Amino acid sequence: MVLYYMRAWGLHPTRPLESQRDMYIHILCVGDVVGKAGRSVLAEHLPQLIQEHTIDFVVCNAENAAGGSGMTPQIYEKLLRYGVDVVTLGDHCFRKADVFPLLDSSDRLIRPANLPSAAAGRGWTVIPGKSGRRQIGVICALGQMEMGNNNSPWAAVDEAMAKMPPEVSIRILDFHAEATSEKIAMGWHVNGRMSIVFGTHTHVPTADATILDGGTAYISDLGMTGPYDGVLGRRKDRVLKFLTTGMPQRFEVATGDPRMYALLVKVSVETGKAESAELLVRHGQRIEGGPYDRDDGWPSQNHHKSRNKQ
Ligand SMILES: [Fe+2]
Ligand SMILES: [Fe+2]
Repeated sequence: MVLYYMRAWGLHPTRPLESQRDMYIHILCVGDVVGKAGRSVLAEHLPQLIQEHTIDFVVCNAENAAGGSGMTPQIYEKLLRYGVDVVTLGDHCFRKADVFPLLDSSDRLIRPANLPSAAAGRGWTVIPGKSGRRQIGVICALGQMEMGNNNSPWAAVDEAMAKMPPEVSIRILDFHAEATSEKIAMGWHVNGRMSIVFGTHTHVPTADATILDGGTAYISDLGMTGPYDGVLGRRKDRVLKFLTTGMPQRFEVATGDPRMYALLVKVSVETGKAESAELLVRHGQRIEGGPYDRDDGWPSQNHHKSRNKQ
């Protein structure tokens, strides 16, 4: 009778429950962390999410973490302490100069792979998960549509995958791009060759999380982890003044309605294919003491030549 119930539940008597659990890994992909509000909501929820869902690996785009634009060594250390395993960046990767040495020394911080080869840092990495039992590959790439004159992301992603050890079956791509068409095309380009492709940069979550027919989990944009009471993470009054008057404004980081968006993906360890993908949202406390603290470094002074470069 016991055997009957075990088979009905999909369990085999010679295979203990623990090894069934080992057949899958849970991976969390976190969208662009923006400023103090983004860091705060991440610190508030990430450790608990890791416990709650037995997450073995966290990849987090944090190109806007410092002062709304760029990364600092202090913030990088804190992100790792909260539970992030690999930090990815985007078009603002070189905004704060004190991160340059870290880009060269850390194998847990990657910039887009399709920058000039002489640029600081690396475009992909392979890191063990929290359990230490398996290696996970992560690549970051920039789009070309409305994103400047970047090298081909298609070639850069293929090249990075070719250089990864073949036994690394779990592979993740952060495609930091503006156009949903380019992101969707990238999903199909690596369909069946990567476990997860997630889009970043637009700071707006999309409702298209899916598993492509080759077993690749895909979403066009995770949405930012930051203050939603603004325009893509910046103060709405400043952005509106700029848009309505055409006069330059300092786009301070917003503070209200902090939210964390992240894609939770279950991946088969044996095949590297995704089994499920779900976009999670967590709401944070309103932050106190203004939009910046000492971790932000010098607040970004840029007036944003373009309105949508995040
Ligand atoms: Fe961003
Ligand atoms: Fe960006």
